[in-house]
Amino acid sequence: MIVFSDIHALNEELRAEIQKAIDRVLNSGRYVLGDEVESFEREWAAYCGAKYAVSVGNGLDALTLSLLASGVGIGDEVIVPGNTFIATWLAVSACGAIPVPVDPIESTYNIDPDGIEERISNKTKAIIPVHLYGQPADLERVLKIAAKHDLRVIEDAAQAHGAVYNGRKIGGRGDAVAWSFYPGKNLGALGDGGCITTNNETLSRELKLLRNYGSEEKYRHIKKGVNSRLDPIHAAVLRAKLKYLDLWNASRQHRAGEYKNAFSAYFPNIENYSDQLFIPNNEHFGTSVWHLYVLSVSNRDRLREFLGGAGIETLIHYPLPPFLQGAYKECHSWAGKCPMSVKMARRVISLPMHPRLKTSEIERVVEHIRNFYRDTASNYG
Ligand SMILES: Cc1ncc(COP(=O)(O)O)c(C=O)c1O
Repeated sequence: MIVFSDIHALNEELRAEIQKAIDRVLNSGRYVLGDEVESFEREWAAYCGAKYAVSVGNGLDALTLSLLASGVGIGDEVIVPGNTFIATWLAVSACGAIPVPVDPIESTYNIDPDGIEERISNKTKAIIPVHLYGQPADLERVLKIAAKHDLRVIEDAAQAHGAVYNGRKIGGRGDAVAWSFYPGKNLGALGDGGCITTNNETLSRELKLLRNYGSEEKYRHIKKGVNSRLDPIHAAVLRAKLKYLDLWNASRQHRAGEYKNAFSAYFPNIENYSDQLFIPNNEHFGTSVWHLYVLSVSNRDRLREFLGGAGIETLIHYPLPPFLQGAYKECHSWAGKCPMSVKMARRVISLPMHPRLKTSEIERVVEHIRNFYRDTASNYG
């Protein structure tokens, strides 16, 4: 069996350090906010090159609270990718605002800046570029459009811990960058967790209020906030794991290179397969951290079945665009205006990718993909 991802193995490798971190929290007797959380926030801000980090309960809350703190509210419109995880959309809806989708660029899977301006109306308040699958979106162009139309930019970096855009880490520029520490992320807690990094002091103060019942001082509430805090136990574990993030990312990057080499070896004339098989590349605006290794292929479901039969685990990120989900019935008509998002949902397939994936496993995966297209695809056109 070639597993998709092996979070448990990585946590096992660090068992002694994780245990020590948990013991520290137990010994402190502090179970909500406090030193451990503040230390993690300082360390995460420093890692990203941001002035401030405000931790919260999960990535969805990081996005929602960032929007609220940026003044997004009922009836406003927010530009979002049409091919993201639904949390990007749910955050907009949680503020009473309306998500307005823009298609991705086919070769990067990320929001197409050329599609943004035509979706801006006098109700638009913000844009959420998502650094999907670990690859930075074209931030400079998004920021330029936002500045021209006086819009806020909230980056969804839930999949991009450590990714580099134009020479700088994601998270260190812009008003609000939202992170998730869901266990399967490149930096994952032992449960849910999230954070916002920002260089804007006023925004960071507002976020600290919102995450804590709108309160700075116990039983004094100056905002209608929520309860969404990163638990000290997760903060302590994240501090232990953060020391290894760059190593793990480098390992993922190495594996992405090995996939590329294997595809070159097994498909010597890959350009002949351009419609059947698109391999992700990393040379757009920076360095991907390969949270996911996603191909775009014809006969996707049959390929997945074929690989599954050979003991190769794959996943689909994501099988339905948010605007075609049951939760967004009112948005179904976007399908006609977002053909690339619809196409991606039909074609994407995520191959096994994690820091401990073996070279021989990568070769086996690609060999099976070659066999599929050589032996079966011609039957399906
Ligand atoms: C692109 C994207 N945005 C937002 C989220 C939400 O994060 P969380 O699961 O921590 O709420 C996730 C991950 O789950 C994600 O992949």
